[in-house]
Amino acid sequence: MNETVINIEHLKKSFGDKTVLKDINIKVMKGENAVTLGKSGTGKSVTLQCIIGLLPADSGKIEIFGQDISYLSGNEMTELRKRMGFLFQSGALYDSMSVRENLQFPLKRVFKLKQDEMDEAAFNRLKEVGLEDAIDKMPSELSGGMRKRVALARTLILNPEIVLYDEPTTGLDPATSREISELIRDIQKLHNITSMIVTHDMECVKITSDRIYILKDGEYICNGTYDELEKSNDNFIKSFF
Ligand SMILES: Nc1ncnc2c1ncn2[C@@H]1O[C@H](COP(=O)(O)OP(=O)(O)OP(=O)(O)O)[C@@H](O)[C@H]1O
Ligand SMILES: [Mg+2]
Repeated sequence: MNETVINIEHLKKSFGDKTVLKDINIKVMKGENAVTLGKSGTGKSVTLQCIIGLLPADSGKIEIFGQDISYLSGNEMTELRKRMGFLFQSGALYDSMSVRENLQFPLKRVFKLKQDEMDEAAFNRLKEVGLEDAIDKMPSELSGGMRKRVALARTLILNPEIVLYDEPTTGLDPATSREISELIRDIQKLHNITSMIVTHDMECVKITSDRIYILKDGEYICNGTYDELEKSNDNFIKSFF
C-alpha cells in the first residue's frame, strides 16, 4: 500500500536571526528511502533532529505514522521513538562496553527482557551485519568499518519501522563505504524499513536511494530518482553528481 510514514509540511527552523529551514516539505512512503543532498551547513542534520523531536520546530507540521508530533505528550513521544532508529554521524559505541553490551543497552532501556532473549537478539542482529563472531570483542578491537556495522546492528535491535541515518559512511574508505551502503539497502528491503539518509557520499546515494531531495536555501528545490537527477542540466544539481 502507498502509506505515508513521514509527512513534513512547511517546516521552519531558525536559530536566533539565522533561518536554517525555511520551508521543508516531504512525504516518505512506507519502505521508501529518501536521501537528502545539500551543501555543508544547510540544515540536513537539523532536519533529522526536528523529525526525532530533539529540536523543536518553529512552525509547520511533522507527522509520523499520521501523528502530528507537536501534539504528543512526553510519554507518547517516547512510545513513538521506540519505533524509530537513528544512526548518527559519529556512530559512537560505548568504549567501555563489549559489542554484546552495546547492542543490549537499548534493549535494557526500552524492554524488560531475559538475558537469553537479549543474547539471541544481539546475535541475530550481528549476524545480519556479518559480525556475529565479534560479539564479545571490545570496540577498541574493531576497525572503523566494523564499528559502523555494530552501530547499525544496535540501531536495528529494537526493530525500528523508521531509521534516520546522518552520514552513515563518513570516515570509511570507498570499499567499506560501499559495503555499509549495500548493507543498509539490503536490511531496508528485508524489513521494509522507511528511512531518510543524509549523506555526501554519492555512491551511498546511488546504492540506497529510492528518491533524492535536493536541499538549497532552507527548501527542497527538487526531487527525483538517481537516474533522473543525474541527467539534470541544472548547475546546482550537477555539482553533486
Ligand atoms: N543546536 C543548534 N544551535 C544553534 N545553531 C545550530 C544548532 N544546530 C545547528 N545549527 C546551525 O544550523 C545550521 C545547519 O546545521 P546542520 O548541522 O543541520 O548542517 P548540515 O547540513 O547537517 O551540515 P554538514 O553537511 O556539515 O553536516 C548551521 O549553521 C549550524 O551552525
Ligand atoms: Mg550534518
